[in-house]
This record gives sequence, C-alpha cells and structure tokens, in this order.
Amino acid sequence: MKIRLGVNIDHVATLRQARRAPYPDPIDAAAICLSAGADYIVAHWRKDQRHIQAKDIADLCKYFPKKIHLECSYTPEAEKLALKCKPHCVCIVPEQPGEVTTLGGLKFTPEVQQKVRLMVDKLHKKGILVSLFISPIADDVRIAARLGADIVELCTRDYSEATSAKKAQKLLQDLTLSALLAKELGLDVHAGHGLDYLNVLAVADIGAFSVMNIGFAIITRALFAGLPQAVEEMKDIL
Ligand code: PXP
Repeated sequence: MKIRLGVNIDHVATLRQARRAPYPDPIDAAAICLSAGADYIVAHWRKDQRHIQAKDIADLCKYFPKKIHLECSYTPEAEKLALKCKPHCVCIVPEQPGEVTTLGGLKFTPEVQQKVRLMVDKLHKKGILVSLFISPIADDVRIAARLGADIVELCTRDYSEATSAKKAQKLLQDLTLSALLAKELGLDVHAGHGLDYLNVLAVADIGAFSVMNIGFAIITRALFAGLPQAVEEMKDIL
C-alpha cells in the first residue's frame, strides 16, 4: 500500500512570525509541497497563534480545498475556526499552555470525551472528516471509535525519541497493535510526530497506516535542500 504524505507547514509560519514579516508565506509553502508530491497540507492552529494564524487557515482552506488537515484542540475558539473554514479534515489534539510541541495523545477523561464527542458531531454536520490524535493504547483506540472518529492519528513521539533499539522495538509493537485494532474497528489510521527520514521507514513497514504527517524534519531539511527536494525525498521513502 502506498502511504500518503501530509506535510505540516507550521514552521514556515514560525519563521515568518519570528520577524512578524509577511514572508515566508505558508500558502506558498503549501503550493510547493503539493506540486512536489505531498498529498495533504497539515497546519496546527494553536490558541497562542505562535505560528499558524487564523487567516492562514482561512486562506489555506480557500486555495487548497480537500487538501487541508487542520490540527487544533477542542476549545470553542478552535471549533469556531474549523466550522467557519471547513478544512477537509480536523485532527483534534491536546494542547497545554507553554508546551514546545504536542506532548502526546488525547487524555480521555470523561470531561474530554464529552467535549470531543460534541465537537465531532458538529464537524460531521459540516461534512468535515475527524481524526483524533491518540497514544498507541488499545483502550484509547476503542474510545476514539466510540466517539465517532473517522480516523485515529497514532502518536509516534515516544517511538521517535526512544533511546535504545529495544525500546523502539517495543514502541513499534504498540503502534502495530493499536493500528491493527483501529483498522478492525473501521477507522482509517494515520501516524505522526517526530518522524524523520531515518525513523519513518519502520513505521511505514507496519503496513497499517494510510498517511504519515511530518513537519519539522521536512521543513528543516528544506533549509538546506530546498522544499521540493525535501518533500520528494520523503515521498520516495514512503
Ligand atoms: N501530528 C500531530 C498531531 C502534531 O501535533 C504534529 C506536530 O504539530 C505533527 C503530526 C508533526 O510533528 P513533527 O513536526 O514532529 O513532524
């Protein structure tokens, strides 16, 4: 199975926001990534808008309909933006104030489950696909299915940060079991976080993932190789 690539362009906006300049423009980055073979564009709207702004999401959805995966939390502000801009897919992720990047999958307390369920229903009513970003834990896969998700994105952060081959192997096993369970429950299965040109192949080889969402590795590679080549190199691996 050919695995599709979602390129996360947050850090193009990080660079722009560093100088509050009008460039580099995430819209240009999205166009280049798509013409170099990316299947989707992923953008994470955070409450602090430290990289992607609400206007970026509106423009991305306007210029690239059916191609935008919006990542956001289950807050009223994020929900409002998603319902207004209508991306192809919304991936609901947890968000902690001050975190450098997303720390892991959703923690399904009863309160979180209730908020997520309501948001899933509203997004579905607008025809938006819903993905839930979860840790590779069987119970969380079952909860995601019960909440009505179309997709689960399994968090590969722990795997990507594993400090020994033995730990990486155990985490790949967790990813495999959760991915197979998700498929059995009728969910589409994506993977993301911390994937790079070296560690992605072992996850791709599991054979159960339809999409890999990758940002930091591609955008930083682009600084030296150029964005089209950085995307093409990842596509070649997948
Ligand atoms: N998937 C999700 C849900 C994320 O939050 C992120 C980071 O924004 C990514 C994928 C991409 O992670 P990375 O930038 O480490 O490739």
